[in-house]
Amino acid sequence: MDGNGRWAEMRGLPRITGHQRGAEAVRTAVEAAPAVGITDLTLYAFSSDNWKRPAAEVSALMKLLAAYLESEAAACARKGVRLSVIGRRDRLSAGLRRLIESTERLTAPGERVHVRLAIDYSSRDTLLRAAEACSGRELTREALAAHLPAPDVDLLIRTAGEQRLSDFLLWECAYAEFVFTDLMWPDFTAEDLGAAINVFHSRNRRFGGLPPYTFQSGATGARDHHEATRS
Ligand code: FPP
Repeated sequence: MDGNGRWAEMRGLPRITGHQRGAEAVRTAVEAAPAVGITDLTLYAFSSDNWKRPAAEVSALMKLLAAYLESEAAACARKGVRLSVIGRRDRLSAGLRRLIESTERLTAPGERVHVRLAIDYSSRDTLLRAAEACSGRELTREALAAHLPAPDVDLLIRTAGEQRLSDFLLWECAYAEFVFTDLMWPDFTAEDLGAAINVFHSRNRRFGGLPPYTFQSGATGARDHHEATRS
């Protein structure tokens, strides 16, 4: 969700106004997700490295996150949206922790879309904790993944022209498709989400294997392969 700060600066507004508009774009994306087939949506709201930002911006972001949970929990529960938070909780205020817990309880039955807000999240730290949780047992892919708080990622969208992972879902993005856009996050609409989903569906995902036509045998397969490589 990059570009909140730049969106505001370009308009001569304080950065926090950009974050406020970013929170509105979050509401829009969450509402639009089920209609475009999204069942799991993880939003990078505050990274563990974001503590390095000025105290005033950190505090404003925390207030915004609390306000979002407070204002959205009931509506999410009504609409079948499950809201949960991934990341460290021990550095959050007691008030925010309580709000997270009550929101998670209230929305737990939601089955239309599971929205995870990554707050004080670092993928490297999450992987270390997952590996620790496996200690004493055989460390397999499945055992480690069972201790990760989010499923494998199909599509990762990054806004504002940035093209990095920034310690986000490193393991889960092993075969993610990436869509980058120059749009600032506050300008990202439901239509932009739909367009990114269309790009995703146009991709040929091979997961390290070969395209399906190479599995055919005989003359037909060879012709199909020839046709396919020409098109
Ligand atoms: C990155 O843009 C954005 C953040 C660090 C905060 C994201 C927070 C929100 C979208 C609002 C609150 C979230 C929820 C879930 C209600 P940036 O600040 O680095 O912008 P810049 O790259 O233009 O400086």
